[in-house]
Amino acid sequence: MAAKIIDGKAFAAKVRASVAEHVTALKAKGVTPGLAVVLVGKDPASQVYVRNKGQQTLEVGMASFEHKLNASTSEADLLALIAKLNADTKVHGILVQLPLPKHLNSDLVINSIDPAKDVDGFHISNVGLLGTGQKSMVPCTPFGCLMMLRAHHGSLAGLEAVIVGRSNIVGKPMAQLLLNDSCTVTIAHSRTRDLQSVCRRADILVAAVGRPEMIPGEWVNPGATVIDVGINRIERDGKAKLVGDVHFESAAKVAGAITPVPGGVGPMTIACLLANTSTACCRSLGLPEPAGLTA
Ligand code: GUN
Repeated sequence: MAAKIIDGKAFAAKVRASVAEHVTALKAKGVTPGLAVVLVGKDPASQVYVRNKGQQTLEVGMASFEHKLNASTSEADLLALIAKLNADTKVHGILVQLPLPKHLNSDLVINSIDPAKDVDGFHISNVGLLGTGQKSMVPCTPFGCLMMLRAHHGSLAGLEAVIVGRSNIVGKPMAQLLLNDSCTVTIAHSRTRDLQSVCRRADILVAAVGRPEMIPGEWVNPGATVIDVGINRIERDGKAKLVGDVHFESAAKVAGAITPVPGGVGPMTIACLLANTSTACCRSLGLPEPAGLTA
């Protein structure tokens, strides 16, 4: 039986509509949520993401502040900008686009962001809060995956979840979120023995390794929900193509539900960033948090 395709593009549009409604209500109270995005250098993929973030921030009615810095910007100058944004009451969310140029210490830079404005959820304090099941800012990509999984399954309690990939941005926070929803969680990675058997026992399989079509249909447990976080640019038959970490055609024949690439997880990331910015704005002012937009 063919898998249900989980339409992330449509889901993200609904999340953005819900954020826009919330922003309208905040504006009626005289508050406009503001998101500052900092881009250092000219990495082409990062430039595309930052442009999309800026556009969508404005579309939901928020204020957008873009700071584009030279690739040679010093750490001191970047930290000074972040200190300014931390103190700016018009800015409720701050995102520093990763990866940063090699001469900049990403951990130091991320940990200089006010945790209350850390809409990426990467600050060590938010990582600790999430890891102990406390209220935090939740990293956008895993948050988007969680929203889609909850919408598809209802309760996730007791389900066997396997996450392939152990990054700080996706794999590790995804594991924490699924654990908080009472899944039995395994994080697999490049050193995992017999990855195929590990994947085959998953009710929920999250692929976040950054290797094109690495997971074939034979590795998917029949009926499982497959969330493909990978966005890999490849060339096939002389044409540029975007593919995930899962081999879509074969996996879709076995899975119960699957996210496509493009149009699955990708659009949810920015939608969740906007949701987090709304939440950060409300928390900073002691206002009620937006319903349905927090983890
Ligand atoms: N680069 C790739 N994904 C992300 C993300 O979610 N946040 C930031 N800040 N940079 C990224």
